[in-house]
Amino acid sequence: MALHIDIVSVVPDLLKSPFDHSIMKRAREKGLLKVNVINLRDYTNYARLQVDDYPFGGGAGMVLMIEPLVNALESLQATKSYDEIIYLSPDGETFNQKTANALSLKNNLLLICGHYKGIDQRFRDQFITKEISIGDYVLSGGELAAAVLVDSLGRLIPGVLNDESSALSDSFQDNLLAPPVYTRPENFRGWKVPEILLSGNHKKIEEWRQEQSLERTKEKRPDLLD
Ligand code: ADE
Repeated sequence: MALHIDIVSVVPDLLKSPFDHSIMKRAREKGLLKVNVINLRDYTNYARLQVDDYPFGGGAGMVLMIEPLVNALESLQATKSYDEIIYLSPDGETFNQKTANALSLKNNLLLICGHYKGIDQRFRDQFITKEISIGDYVLSGGELAAAVLVDSLGRLIPGVLNDESSALSDSFQDNLLAPPVYTRPENFRGWKVPEILLSGNHKKIEEWRQEQSLERTKEKRPDLLD
């Protein structure tokens, strides 16, 4: 099963390389992830490829117009139907691992990136099925948020990570932070790796990791335990 993600943007160049490296590259090469970036300006009927205009009622900033957005959407929907049409916005629900898990099981997602002051509310009301924020801060547009979404979903698609259990041991998968990890050398300037990890006792190591996860979560993110 592959996950196909279309992204509509007025700055498509921002999304040129994030999916060309590392795990996302591998996911795409294996045919498990498809990412297609659509330039909103290809869908405007206005002069000079205009896609935004001043807000009615006045105020700062520009608003993406509904017409090019609908043109783009209807053109895309002519060949496929989307499981979710997602608008990236600081006023959406805050993205987390639970949402990532759920979305990674879908087949077709459409991400709409706002820019400037956002998009005409009528498009949100009529077409958007889910609104997602990646955190309580404001970005210049939804593109970097879309890249975050694609990356976090892509690595969860079964078969993308070599060792499938490796996503299961991520932070947040069980509402716990991941335990500390170490690699060679065993001793660097007297800073030693915890002995238990060198013991070869897998049961004990697993117990230690569980304990460390819990400790770390209590210390750094007690809210996750509530
Ligand atoms: N667009 C602007 N800020 C954003 C945020 N925090 N999350 C998602 N999309 C955004």
